[in-house]
Amino acid sequence: ELHHFWGTRWQWRGWWHEGVEDDSVGESDIISTVEFNHTGELLATGDKGGRVVIFQREQESKNQPHRRGEYNVYSTFQSHEPEFDYLKSLEIEEKINKIRWLPQQNAAYFLLSTNDKTVKLWKVSERDKRPEGYNLKDEDGRLRDPSMITMLRVPVLRPMDLMVEATPRRVFANAHTYHINSISVNSDYETYMSADDLRINLWNFEITNQSFNIVDIKPANMEELTEVITAAEFHPHHCNTFVYSSSKGTIRLCDMRASALCDRHSKFFEEPEDPSNRSFFSEIISSISDVKFSHSGRYIMTRDYLTVKVWDLNMENRPIETYQVHDYLRSKLCSLYENDCIFDKFECVWNGSDSVIMTGSYNNFFRMFDRNTKRDVTLEASRENSKPRAILKPRKVCVGGKRRKDEISVDSLDFSKKILHTAWHPSENIIAVAATNNLYIFQDKVN
Ligand SMILES: *[C@@H]1O[C@H](CO)[C@@H](O)[C@H](O)[C@H]1NC(C)=O
Ligand SMILES: *[C@@H]1O[C@H](CO)[C@@H](O)[C@H](O)[C@H]1NC(C)=O
Ligand SMILES: *[C@@H]1O[C@H](CO)[C@@H](O)[C@H](O)[C@H]1NC(C)=O
Ligand SMILES: *[C@@H]1O[C@H](CO)[C@@H](O)[C@H](O)[C@H]1NC(C)=O
Repeated sequence: ELHHFWGTRWQWRGWWHEGVEDDSVGESDIISTVEFNHTGELLATGDKGGRVVIFQREQESKNQPHRRGEYNVYSTFQSHEPEFDYLKSLEIEEKINKIRWLPQQNAAYFLLSTNDKTVKLWKVSERDKRPEGYNLKDEDGRLRDPSMITMLRVPVLRPMDLMVEATPRRVFANAHTYHINSISVNSDYETYMSADDLRINLWNFEITNQSFNIVDIKPANMEELTEVITAAEFHPHHCNTFVYSSSKGTIRLCDMRASALCDRHSKFFEEPEDPSNRSFFSEIISSISDVKFSHSGRYIMTRDYLTVKVWDLNMENRPIETYQVHDYLRSKLCSLYENDCIFDKFECVWNGSDSVIMTGSYNNFFRMFDRNTKRDVTLEASRENSKPRAILKPRKVCVGGKRRKDEISVDSLDFSKKILHTAWHPSENIIAVAATNNLYIFQDKVN
């Protein structure tokens, strides 16, 4: 039965939301990115209001082994503020487009967050002690009257309630003319890249006033522009290799050892279009909204409007696997174009062993595909279904013919409820699903 999906029953774990009811969602509360850290103990979300919220998993309790650690809010901070570009008379939104964690090197945690223009490196650290007994200042920081200082004191550290502080350590600004769509930390952990519509820059974490332009597809004459960069990512193990995807449905693999400016790709992945499927919308729906290397580094996964594709790095002329996410929308493209939904940018993720793929759809549905058994499932992130410990019921969309009792027809799907951002714990079956202003965390059922 589908309930035992790969021996996995997704169980509701909790949700967290800002604002009141779904209907009165404040625009700024809409979650715009979700990312686990490298061990899955921390989970960060960014929202349209420029805020970052970090969740931490509780320690497992010995008394309640069936209760696996829940995620609780650990730290909340304002990462980006709205700005105004006076030269171009343009507003720069505070919306967080991407968050990427750095591997932990000391007691503090570091993450990169970006809006359209500026990348910031944040340090998140704990404080549970406070210095007291300064000589020149009193406990509130006011200068003491020098005539009252008659002896030298040795300041001491006193315990206090745990405080989590986020401090901006670096601000990488003024390097992007267009909108940043991706950031990716290199496996050398010294550099990262940021990609906008036409260019990709390489940064050193220590240097904020200079970056290297590694890809530039801006034509001399902007009227000749036919393609933009939609996403980019470093290879997980080879620090010289990265990929970027385009609005034409192509993926380029570049090797930084070949030349400083990677204008010539070393591999070019593209699937020839099926002429029988050609339509006015072909080019729009083939635009790639996300590209992700598998953890092994052997495959790349891309998401376009209707499908997820898996490519073998050794085969450029077609994907080795294609999964239909919501093929029933093929007949609805005209209305999806009119309401702009056709331009939605869905992301996709691998599970820790690269055996399962997850991506979002409409009506708060999200999909999982098992690459080995070729089974797939549609699940729904909704509050009605989210009773504590309730098992998610697979959902089914009815295409033509008679609608069965538990099916939903294509025409009653709610296109304003979309799952664009999801994350999969790096080593366990725990997933985070962002649905508008709600974050759902599901895990497989523990026996
Ligand atoms: C992820 O976060 C946890 C903190 O809860 C930390 O112990 C762990 O080292 C982090 N992992 C990495 C690889 O940074
Ligand atoms: C960046 O800043 C450093 C230190 O302030 C300086 O030495 C260097 O010349 C600057 N580089 C550029 C390109 O401005
Ligand atoms: C063409 O459309 C059919 C469904 O209408 C789909 O199954 C098939 O994958 C499409 N072909 C390509 C190359 O996208
Ligand atoms: C996904 O990968 C992890 C290993 O990282 C594994 O424990 C888990 O069972 C996999 N999930 C599924 C649904 O197969």
